[in-house]
Amino acid sequence: MELTTDIFAQFDRKWALLTAGTEDHFNTMTISWGGLGTIWNKPVATVYVRESRYTHDFMDSNDHFTVSFYPDRYKKELGVLGSRSGRDMDKMKGSGLTAVKAGESVTFKEAEVTLVCRKLFRQRLLPENMPKDVVETLYADNDLHDMYIGEVVDIIR
Ligand SMILES: Cc1cc2nc3c(=O)[nH]c(=O)nc-3n(C[C@H](O)[C@H](O)[C@H](O)COP(=O)(O)O)c2cc1C
Repeated sequence: MELTTDIFAQFDRKWALLTAGTEDHFNTMTISWGGLGTIWNKPVATVYVRESRYTHDFMDSNDHFTVSFYPDRYKKELGVLGSRSGRDMDKMKGSGLTAVKAGESVTFKEAEVTLVCRKLFRQRLLPENMPKDVVETLYADNDLHDMYIGEVVDIIR
């Protein structure tokens, strides 16, 4: 497994899709927060999902998820997947992306690279442990993020 990229640019500027579920029943959403690192001697990807996201349900009910990155020309598609909820509509329809199986989860044919992750850990990010300005700016509505850490079990190009 090898990944050569500027990971800060990948998440913050290029965005990614976080997908959980099976080919028959999955949901995906755009993310721009996340990280790659090491814990418990494993290579891991960390993502942050607000409780209100439909994808949150899929993260909780599945043991695997994927984080996938796209060429810049897909930014518009990622914008749509990051502003509509799969709870309200079939947002894959007309998304321009083609779902494909990736290990125990799902990614899209158009991805440049996909990290296939096995869920290791989930924890709520509690306001009492955050700086006050972050709570005021990002959590005024109390829609908190859960942090999910997944072991990167495969990297698909
Ligand atoms: C650029 C961008 C980055 C985003 N990053 C995150 C994120 O890291 N975590 C999160 O919970 N929501 C994030 N969102 C919001 C979700 O993608 C958005 O609410 C989406 O519609 C949720 O879809 P769902 O309800 O089908 O899961 C982001 C949206 C955009 C456009």
